[in-house]
Amino acid sequence: MKIAERLKMVRPSGIRKMFDLAQGIPGVISLGIGQPDFKPPPHVIEAYKKALEEGYCGYSPSAGYLELRKAIAERYENKYGLTYNPETEICVTSGACEALYTILQAYIDPGDEVLIPDPGFLYYERDVHLAHGKPIHIPLKEENEFKMNPDDIAEKITPKTKMIIINFPSNPTGSVMSRKQLKAICEIVEDHDIILVSDEVYEEFVYDGHKHICLAKIAPREKTVIVNAVSKTYAATGFRIGYVVADKELLLPILRIHQYVTANANSPAQIAAITALRGPQDAVKEMIAEFDARRKIIVNGLKRIKGFKVVEPKGAFYVFPNIKAFGMNGEKFAEYLLNEAKVVVVPGSEFGPSGEYYVRISYATSRENLKEALTRMEEVLEKIEVAE
Ligand SMILES: Cc1ncc(COP(=O)(O)O)c(C=O)c1O
Repeated sequence: MKIAERLKMVRPSGIRKMFDLAQGIPGVISLGIGQPDFKPPPHVIEAYKKALEEGYCGYSPSAGYLELRKAIAERYENKYGLTYNPETEICVTSGACEALYTILQAYIDPGDEVLIPDPGFLYYERDVHLAHGKPIHIPLKEENEFKMNPDDIAEKITPKTKMIIINFPSNPTGSVMSRKQLKAICEIVEDHDIILVSDEVYEEFVYDGHKHICLAKIAPREKTVIVNAVSKTYAATGFRIGYVVADKELLLPILRIHQYVTANANSPAQIAAITALRGPQDAVKEMIAEFDARRKIIVNGLKRIKGFKVVEPKGAFYVFPNIKAFGMNGEKFAEYLLNEAKVVVVPGSEFGPSGEYYVRISYATSRENLKEALTRMEEVLEKIEVAE
């Protein structure tokens, strides 16, 4: 059977390939994971169970239960002083993944250009293709600590540019941006007829005193779409609860697509998400503190191994070291580490062409696993003549 043309533009995920290769290898340590290795807080799990028992098993309103939308609106009000109307300016989606797909389907026509970070979360490029748009890469350069340079954006804007997607804290680099740096990007959005989509799923995962800046705080309201989720913050990726927050006019087309893509997000998980957002946040703080400790272990460990060039990440739970000195690209390097050290990392090229000589290392695993993985990596990488 002939498959749809659009699928030709959607490469299979190389992350899956790494996981498939690792299957069945005993003692393998995975540093490829893109989700917290924690459980949701117990009161959230209880709320989920109770929701099932109380019969929240049917369809819910397409935009999500109003009570959840109110909880999301409260969060933006309390955390950032931003006011969004829960009735008309919030849509609950099946994870941030569905949010991104739906936004692109709602706004992108064939040939429209969408600026995306390179390296960046791999869904961006795939979703732009699925909307028949043209992804335009904005390089996040190592020498610039993987921050997005406003000049690089300005250079890529054409009459066809319809949207820019940004993501800080960033997957895969762990980079963050200051208010001043983000402001410069927002000014470009202000001056052009483009929509800004800010994917902020890692907003809580910031370290060394960095404060997350919600883009809606500084960008023009009528052009800004915020994507978020309970997935990472509450270690609840399987709940599939994400959300879109945007000005009423901007949200309307997104709501229309969302309804036909998924009808509504998981109903009992929405009830649990209300508890997650409104309940105590201690478990989140503890999880972030643990991630911070692991970040230090992995960063210091990598710096000790000759050949890695490491930009210290200030957010998310990834490190994106340069591995060019080992004389391999990221794909070969990842295969080498899997075969020789039984350690899984993800080739940087998965996240865009700029990632060719990098790998993404996730520290969403125990300190013991991280230390063991570092010991194994050191042992096998010592054998390689490193370019100066
Ligand atoms: C930057 C980024 N956005 C969105 C997502 C997807 O989140 P969700 O699990 O809520 O669909 C991920 C997951 O890895 C991510 O890294």
